Amino acid sequence: MSRRYRGLSRAVLVLAPLLSSCSSPYSTFLPGGGDAQMLYTLGMWLCGIALLITLAMTLLVVWGALRRRGSLDEHLPVGVDGGKRWILIGGLAIPGVALTALFVVTLLALEPFSGDTDEADLELEVIAHRWWWEVNYVTAEVPAEHFVTANEIHIPVGRRVGITLRSADVIHSFWVPRLHGKLDAIPGIENRLVLQADEPGTYHGQCAEYCGGQHAFMHFLIVAQEEEEYEIWAARQRQPATPPEDPKLARGLAAFEQHSCGLCHRVRGTEARGTNGPDLTHFGSRMTIGAGIMPNNRPRLQAWIVDAQAIKPGINMPTLTEFDGPTIDALASYLESLQ
Ligand code: CUA
Repeated sequence: MSRRYRGLSRAVLVLAPLLSSCSSPYSTFLPGGGDAQMLYTLGMWLCGIALLITLAMTLLVVWGALRRRGSLDEHLPVGVDGGKRWILIGGLAIPGVALTALFVVTLLALEPFSGDTDEADLELEVIAHRWWWEVNYVTAEVPAEHFVTANEIHIPVGRRVGITLRSADVIHSFWVPRLHGKLDAIPGIENRLVLQADEPGTYHGQCAEYCGGQHAFMHFLIVAQEEEEYEIWAARQRQPATPPEDPKLARGLAAFEQHSCGLCHRVRGTEARGTNGPDLTHFGSRMTIGAGIMPNNRPRLQAWIVDAQAIKPGINMPTLTEFDGPTIDALASYLESLQ
């Protein structure tokens, strides 16, 4: 391998992760709407200005290094011919003006940033737990239309969605890089943001404040759908689970209600009424298990039921040794049927 080739391949190795982060689902370089667009524009302006200043300073340094030096006799002591003036201009005036300008630009840009009082088309309440997200769809006018889900937030595209953030335990931070800046979920305090997705699609979110061992696996998804599709989804979510007729599913439900599952999880329409863990009324319709730690499919679901501690150590869900094979199979089938 030639030296040049080796150098090039090293450069590619170093740059690849940096470049790929520009197109990752968590990239702020692909704003999906609302305030994320404004943050992106602001970020680009700040980067551009910083780049110009860096360039100017680099040129000055190069010029200083290359210019003719002259002999010692030619140089008068600093301060006699304005050497101090350069320090004042370059060290105080220019940075002072640049930083003040950036500060004002940032304040102006953040002024219209959606706050607590902005009107929204849809109101949600998101409660951060160690380590998952409870999502309450609240409608002030029709309390009967409230429903609860977890880790997957569906919203209508092009609509302003108000999200009130609370925490059930420690400080977390709600962050969907493509849709909004970070906002903390703080115990005892309500914070609110308004976000909007301009295009249908799935936007990835992540807890952005260290909150314990599984902080890195506190993901969530925002699924932006066309209005009609969203309404169908919401209507489905409002429904309680229907009692299964299939014997295998009935066995799964019985196991769920009679063993520890129902103490922590709720499936509306059944005897399982726990509220410590995620509401599982429509679990089968969700894309992931364990707050985004893995896709929602059969083998992973069974592994999760049996030994969630091995997959996500430290969570509240215990290792369950009480079920035999057919019961695990029935439980998984029942949970998958909760569409
Ligand atoms: Cu929740 Cu980090």
